[in-house]
Amino acid sequence: MAEGELTLDEVSALSRQVLERVGQAVVGKGEALELVLAGILAGGHVLLEDYPGLAKTLAARSFAQALGLEFRRVQFTPDLLPSDVTGAFVYDQKESEFVFRPGPIFTGLLLADEINRTPPKTQAALLESMQEHQVTVEGQTFPLPAPFHVLATANPVEYEGTYPLPEAQLDRFMLRIGFGYPTPAEEWEVLRRRMSRRREDQTVEAVTDAAGLLAAQRTVETVTVDDTVGQYCVDLAAATRRDSQVLVGASPRGSLALLLTARAYAVIRGRDYVVPEDVKAVAVAALAHRITVRPELWLHEVTGATVVRTVLGSVPTPPTVAVA
Ligand SMILES: Nc1ncnc2c1ncn2[C@@H]1O[C@H](COP(=O)(O)OP(=O)(O)OP(=O)(O)O)[C@@H](O)[C@H]1O
Ligand SMILES: [Mg+2]
Repeated sequence: MAEGELTLDEVSALSRQVLERVGQAVVGKGEALELVLAGILAGGHVLLEDYPGLAKTLAARSFAQALGLEFRRVQFTPDLLPSDVTGAFVYDQKESEFVFRPGPIFTGLLLADEINRTPPKTQAALLESMQEHQVTVEGQTFPLPAPFHVLATANPVEYEGTYPLPEAQLDRFMLRIGFGYPTPAEEWEVLRRRMSRRREDQTVEAVTDAAGLLAAQRTVETVTVDDTVGQYCVDLAAATRRDSQVLVGASPRGSLALLLTARAYAVIRGRDYVVPEDVKAVAVAALAHRITVRPELWLHEVTGATVVRTVLGSVPTPPTVAVA
């Protein structure tokens, strides 16, 4: 094995360490945190959608620290301009020329906070750069660092003056994850830890760095998936398109996200092969945000998530096969 490469066992161990470190800051939320890490290991961007004050920012910052990535945070306000994210050409008096001043997007892990509070033009600038891993300003292209990941937060409440992301843009997020409220015991643990810490800030130690994360991502790419599991991903995505409650179902980008995330999830769970249970565990996070429910059903509490749960119940699960 070449230097700087990791075995699957090493990546599994690294994943557990990262989750343990993040868990030193964030109380509970184990399932959500595993999904965030799966999205990152699979090379994707993650949308955290939930109410304020549920540790989304804390989780994003803790992941950046544990993964040893440079961290930047941008608050997406209504007056934020595309160039405030991407950077812009500014005139350099001394050199008498325009030079590119990179924006905050040039980092390892970008926390894009409240992206549904900024107008579509600025959202589009972020999402295009996310997709292409580069920034284009005035015809010139600047590559983003590798690894580059966005954890974006959005508030589910339809506040006045929000700009909900169009489905086509939501599709660019590998996963959408809700945090949910803590249990009373977890909430008390948050308060208890805060008192014993005697300050607001908390930081966690790095277990790897940018090069280490890239190596881990390359190793996850070597996990082979049994045909029956791959076919299961296709069947699930196709079933969302056939559902009578659905206007637009998940695209092949959705089935691909399902497969890639399930693979990373399997490695986090300490396996070098993917089982149908991995696919089920990531299905809502990978598919729900890609499904548009018929508008007349919104009042009946039909959502992308309920559609995914329905197809998980109806599409036959393939048998579990361990691939050598
Ligand atoms: N599960 C948790 N574990 C540890 N701390 C928590 C947890 N939930 C909330 N907190 C604490 O609550 C406060 C709010 O957390 P944070 O700022 O990360 O929330 P947020 O989800 O980003 O909110 P907003 O949507 O308003 O930005 C912080 O002081 C954080 O430490
Ligand atoms: Mg926050």
